[in-house]
Amino acid sequence: MPAAAPGTDSHEPRATSQEPAPTRRSFLRCSVLAWTGFGTALIAMSHMALRFLFPRVLYEAPENFDALRKANYPELGKVYEDFKSSQGVWLVRLQENGQDRLVAVAAVCTHLGCTPDWLAAEQKFKCPCHGSGFQHDGTNVEGPAPRPLERYRISLAPGGSIIVDKSKRYRKELGQWNDRESYLLMSPET
Ligand code: FES
Repeated sequence: MPAAAPGTDSHEPRATSQEPAPTRRSFLRCSVLAWTGFGTALIAMSHMALRFLFPRVLYEAPENFDALRKANYPELGKVYEDFKSSQGVWLVRLQENGQDRLVAVAAVCTHLGCTPDWLAAEQKFKCPCHGSGFQHDGTNVEGPAPRPLERYRISLAPGGSIIVDKSKRYRKELGQWNDRESYLLMSPET
């Protein structure tokens, strides 16, 4: 049997014929890494763009609300409960400092924050939690409440709507119930 020529032995490693394979694998690996990086960067940029276009904003109920018109509050001395459940506000028409005023009283007890009830028969607000009582103008008269109920800013819009702004409060003990925006004059018309 003739001896195999040098370099033609089938058992010798074929180093040269296998060289392209690692090169191709490296290329593919690099390509995959590059595309992965590109995709990640693209996703990050898209996320940033979306955050810019749609910022994470906490939407809260507006502090202002439309409390109808003067004609909806015809009776002097009456507590109107139309907005107590929806806004936590009583509209009270009263005589104060010789003026016919409409005021927006906060339905929040000044003791620990419970919601009082208006007791028409007794003409007072009564807190069910610890028994504080308040006159119809909000002045505290009994129980542990340390101060009167607060009032909210009230104004007349150009179209005639009454606007109550709960972001601004007025406190009697601070002398703020005579601030011009703490009441609306009902008569004479202004
Ligand atoms: Fe109203 Fe205590 S919370 S009396």
